[in-house]
Amino acid sequence: MNIRFVPAGLKLLGVASLALAGAASAQTAGDPLKGKAVYNRCVACHDMKPGVNKIGPSLNGIVGRKSATVPGFNYSPAMKKAGLTWDPATLDAFLEKPMKQIPGNRMAFVGVPKPEDRANLIAYMKAPTK
Ligand code: HEC
Repeated sequence: MNIRFVPAGLKLLGVASLALAGAASAQTAGDPLKGKAVYNRCVACHDMKPGVNKIGPSLNGIVGRKSATVPGFNYSPAMKKAGLTWDPATLDAFLEKPMKQIPGNRMAFVGVPKPEDRANLIAYMKAPTK
């Protein structure tokens, strides 16, 4: 393949997966493929496609995004007030016990109790596979 024709996005993806692989050796980074299976618990209410809001807001680009900022989604007052940036740490805490982390939010979901399931899920949301 002629390298000059690799789109910039693909190169970036390559760098991101290298960074991910590096993190995997340092701490137990998640496995996006396993995370996709965990994500099945979310699909009734969420879509990974941009702009697709269901019962919950689109989760496109959720890792690194500020909380309650999806256009056109009617967030609860509790979620609007949370003022979080969704990084692996805040997502991990929220997804363990959504109601404990943000009392009064409207996500009617018990949480993902297993730490490894959450790590895999967050890895998937960072780099969704089809
Ligand atoms: C029963 C429906 C439902 C399920 C299942 C569900 N969610 Fe949600 N989720 C919501 C709703 C509704 C909100 C908005 C809550 C609010 O405004 O208080 C939300 C909000 C969120 C947010 C904050 C989004 C933002 O833009 O700030 C994240 C992150 C999230 N959900 C992740 C997940 C993940 C990951 C799963 C699966 C493990 C999941 N949710 C399962 C309904 C659901």
